[in-house]
Amino acid sequence: MYPTVAVSAIDLGQHMAGGAYIESGGRQYEGKVTAFVLITCFVAAMGGLLFGYDLGITGGVTSMEPFLVKFFPVVYQQMLDDSSTNQYCKFDNQLLTLFTSSLYLAALIASFFAATTSRLFGRKPSMFLGGLFFLVGALLNGFAVNVEMLIIGRIFLGFGVGYCNQSVPIYLSEMAPTKIRGALNIGFQMMITIGILGANLINYATSKRQNGWRVSLGVGAVPAVLLCVGSLFLEETPNSLIERGQHVKAKTMLQKIRGTNNVDEEYQDLVDASEAASKVENPWKNITRRRYRPQLTFCTFIPFFQQLTGINVIMFYAPVLFTILGFGNDASLMSAVITGGVNVLATLVSVFCVDKFGRRLLFLEGGVQMLVSQIVVGIMIAMKFGLNGEGSFNKEEADILLVFICLYVAAFAWSWGPLGWLVPSEICSLEVRPAGQAINVAVNMFFTFGIAQVFLSLLCHFKFGLFFFFAAWVLVMTIFIAFLLPETKNVPVEEMNYVWKSHWFWNKYMPECEDLVAGAYNNFEAAPQKEYDVTQEAAPA
Ligand code: BGC
Repeated sequence: MYPTVAVSAIDLGQHMAGGAYIESGGRQYEGKVTAFVLITCFVAAMGGLLFGYDLGITGGVTSMEPFLVKFFPVVYQQMLDDSSTNQYCKFDNQLLTLFTSSLYLAALIASFFAATTSRLFGRKPSMFLGGLFFLVGALLNGFAVNVEMLIIGRIFLGFGVGYCNQSVPIYLSEMAPTKIRGALNIGFQMMITIGILGANLINYATSKRQNGWRVSLGVGAVPAVLLCVGSLFLEETPNSLIERGQHVKAKTMLQKIRGTNNVDEEYQDLVDASEAASKVENPWKNITRRRYRPQLTFCTFIPFFQQLTGINVIMFYAPVLFTILGFGNDASLMSAVITGGVNVLATLVSVFCVDKFGRRLLFLEGGVQMLVSQIVVGIMIAMKFGLNGEGSFNKEEADILLVFICLYVAAFAWSWGPLGWLVPSEICSLEVRPAGQAINVAVNMFFTFGIAQVFLSLLCHFKFGLFFFFAAWVLVMTIFIAFLLPETKNVPVEEMNYVWKSHWFWNKYMPECEDLVAGAYNNFEAAPQKEYDVTQEAAPA
């Protein structure tokens, strides 16, 4: 059960730029990829459907005439009276956007409760509650007779999203065998994208019908029921069972998910990690301690940067954007295909690449591709609309623009999209995992809310410069990853401390070996010299 990192390699690691590469994948536990684990992860990933469905459905519903007439008649009238021809300054009503983005605020608050539920009662109850909240919310919305019902419904939906997004990614990371953890975890993002695509198509089908909005909102009950029922049949993760003192059950579960009786080594590491975690009295205070600086940094900055890629401008405002770009009546179908289809397909790329080529490569390639696409889109819009916002694209120009928007969505879909959920869920050691994931969800929701709320005003003020604004953020985040994120592919979740120890920058935040929290690392000095190869990248001057 000794870690397989060479102590000397850690010194070498201090001099590296970028990541500590763990070539050989670190410690390998025995075990197969069992059908049981695959089915379990598939069911849990359904949690992503809820989030995705909501992301995709709301923008369309709030632009349906009967919906506005019924719930927001004043807004509807203002919209009709709006005669501006400036393409940058589209009709913007803060009340309507607040209605849309209120869900993200509710999710933000719920994620903190979810962290406590996950820690004290397990990941399963959190997922079940997530499904239940969402179900209540979808029903309230589908049958809404007044604005109150609509808003209470949205708050329930938000609770559902908060609970699911907190618990599903950590559930997946804990269940998955190390070798394919990235791929299984990305099941969550895969479901998000399928949810968005499904929602876009449903909106397209219902938008022409009188009460179509009821169908659009009510269908959210379907993924919610699937998750509720599914989570009843799910098994709890061994990590969580041990954390709650159910050792025998945990070992049996580990044997079942790994398909072998020989799980002693992995089991012992989980027990050690859990013992160390049990010494921690307050996980919230704990994560702010110096030794958890890398986890706190990534759990805060990754979701912040994920939203600052500007992806939700496309997800929420695609119909508006595509209309501006001259796609006319086909705009909404077009946006369904773009935001949905490309997003789903490109996410598959990350499923197959993430455990092979690693997280860093996807982050870096995705960042460069997003940057270039945003700059091209910004230049094309600047050339056409200039500063006064008047003009339109011809067919060829619109097609070129479409290609670059697709390239941008694809890049996000195989980088910041899935990795924004995967990395925070796998880098935290047990004692700070629920807290770290709650911070990740809360920051993500806060900026999802913020961008939804201010995008239309930003566009009106920044004009084409808005695309350069997001491009500049993409540049910053790509540099951030290049220098600060170590590679985590193939590293067991309870062994992540080695990665920080081997990193040129985070290394200085790590306490002396014998002090490290996870029990396994207390034996650090005694570790045999081998296996982690941290010699890859050049030293900064
Ligand atoms: C993000 C969402 C985004 C979605 C697009 C998710 O990872 O958190 O904000 O809308 O990806 O696929």
